[in-house]
Amino acid sequence: MFSSKYVIALCLALTSFASQAQGIGRAATPNEIKAWDIDVRPDFKGLPKGAGSVASGEAVWETKCASCHGTFGESNSVFFQLVGYTNKKDVERGNVATLQLGHDAPARTMTMKLPTISTLWDYINRAMPWTAPKSLKPDEVYAVTAFLMNLAEVVPDDFVLSDKNIAEVQKRLPNRNGMTTKHAMWPGAGGKPDTQGSACVKNCGTDPKISSSIPAYAMTAHGNLADQNRAWGSIIGLDTSKPMMEEVAVINAPQAKLDKASSSIKTSEVLPILQKNTCTACHAVATKVMGPAFKDVAKKYANRSDTASYLAGKIKSGGTGVWGSIPMPPMSISDAESKKIAQWLSQGSVD
Ligand code: HEC
Ligand code: HEC
Repeated sequence: MFSSKYVIALCLALTSFASQAQGIGRAATPNEIKAWDIDVRPDFKGLPKGAGSVASGEAVWETKCASCHGTFGESNSVFFQLVGYTNKKDVERGNVATLQLGHDAPARTMTMKLPTISTLWDYINRAMPWTAPKSLKPDEVYAVTAFLMNLAEVVPDDFVLSDKNIAEVQKRLPNRNGMTTKHAMWPGAGGKPDTQGSACVKNCGTDPKISSSIPAYAMTAHGNLADQNRAWGSIIGLDTSKPMMEEVAVINAPQAKLDKASSSIKTSEVLPILQKNTCTACHAVATKVMGPAFKDVAKKYANRSDTASYLAGKIKSGGTGVWGSIPMPPMSISDAESKKIAQWLSQGSVD
């Protein structure tokens, strides 16, 4: 947290400049600055004097907080769960076991992550209750903070939190040792990034092209998108009244390129596979039967970089709307055979 004093100093400098230039505005009064300057820092600088018990905190909680956060801070309906999944061992160590890899707590709660109690005090003081921020008196903030710490088993039921003993509570915060500044995001730390990805796969495409598509069956689900967008600007609605042919997603899959380059498949090799899988009941190579002629399919996708992968999938899934309204049923065909047929079709022309 950085001091709002600096922000205000800057604002004042700008204001006095503006007022000199245009004769408007006035310097902020000390009381106005005081009203803004409410931040509480981890060393408790800025923390007002005061005290509040767990019991009185419970009363504040029930009237002003529980409706959104649940009786025990367990609700995740308005905001995620505030309290839970820490235990006495975490309090001893200052590290939360459920935050470590391999533990899968159902939620990451505020008390799991909180490294400084000042932040909790400051946050409640400035921002809660959500519908009436800054309406709590310091003693109420102490009390409700004590109550949350009691729910998290950090302080006992009869505890009274005050400016005098808040540093002691800091020493029992479950995640007090969990914060690290040794990562690349922290200025000057020179650490490693939080994620340690290794360099990319082999055979990466050189000119990645990312696009998106709507499956044929969903094209008209929301009417014609082109009619629903402005005709200028960066997003112009796709004409979904026509089948989407060439714009299907291509993430320049290197695999697809390999498929295409390595294939040189003769029709005579493929015909027995087509017959065996009953494709020939609906398809012929040169003429349209119930389904499109395979030579037309090959022609249509001649310029796509991922034809083989696309068609291998389509042969198994079937589909409708690309060639007309007659659907092709899903086919139970082996991966190897559908891939072979698809590679054959991806050569651009078959006869
Ligand atoms: C009207 C609903 C509502 C009420 C009442 C309410 N809160 Fe919240 N609270 C929220 C929402 C929403 C957030 C998340 C706000 C955000 O992220 O901008 C939140 C966030 C918080 C957080 C921060 C959690 C985190 O990990 O960042 C704390 C602590 C908190 N509330 C405590 C309280 C306390 C104490 C009271 C009573 C004095 C209270 N709230 C009353 C809705 C509410
Ligand atoms: C019952 C009839 C029928 C059978 C059996 C059938 N198809 Fe089809 N096929 C169709 C129809 C109809 C279409 C057009 C679907 C469309 O418009 O989306 C089609 C389309 C295709 C397409 C083009 C897909 C596209 O997205 O452009 C390919 C490739 C294809 N079929 C291959 C096969 C293969 C290989 C087999 C056998 C494993 C097979 N079909 C079996 C009727 C059939």
